[in-house]
Amino acid sequence: MLIGSKEGIAHMFLALTDIEDYVIIPDPAYPVYRASAYIAGCNVYTMPLTYGDKYLPRLENIYDEVKRKAKILITNYPNNPTGAVSNTEFFSKLIKFGKENNILIANDAAYVEIISKSQKPLSILQIEGAKDIAIEFGSLSKMFSMTGWRIGFVVGNKEAINKIVSVKSNFDSGQFIPIQRAAAFALDFSDIYVDFINDIYNERRKLVVDTLRSKT
Ligand SMILES: Cc1ncc(COP(=O)(O)O)c(C=O)c1O
Repeated sequence: MLIGSKEGIAHMFLALTDIEDYVIIPDPAYPVYRASAYIAGCNVYTMPLTYGDKYLPRLENIYDEVKRKAKILITNYPNNPTGAVSNTEFFSKLIKFGKENNILIANDAAYVEIISKSQKPLSILQIEGAKDIAIEFGSLSKMFSMTGWRIGFVVGNKEAINKIVSVKSNFDSGQFIPIQRAAAFALDFSDIYVDFINDIYNERRKLVVDTLRSKT
């Protein structure tokens, strides 16, 4: 359990890296990745996300030296700010890359359910063997509009999670129990609520797209 996924992401760098280690971060990206990597004393290697590549990074372009020195590669699918989603093939490639280079793959899945109706949510942990090398961050902020409640979670590789818990338990003492219970309740009803909220988002999206198209 995290006090928002941001808290877990920031503490992950302190928990799993040493000063001068490399971390691999996409660009553009949620600014907390880079800021918290710097706070932990890491070097940041940037993977560009481009329209031509459907905003999926080219892992084959990462230098050997970076692969040797990197401890974490962070991805964020569904992606903020591009709106791109991943697929089983790319996540499988990522897991293979993580295992071959002994680099933890951390997927920030804050928006995992906030996708269009034609798509299915996809967790990196659905890939076989993912738990050997990957963790995934979840958030109640987007899915249930519980941003101010500050609650999220991290799941996946046990060793990595134990280290994050060792760090964070010296910074905080957990979220207020009623908020944890409300989050558990929300997750139990996620199927119903997520459909409801996605219908509203899809309606708004259509309105924006139609309006923009009508101006061209
Ligand atoms: C990509 C991404 N990850 C994580 C977060 C943080 O969410 P939380 O409220 O769970 O800390 C945000 C918030 O805007 C975000 O855009």
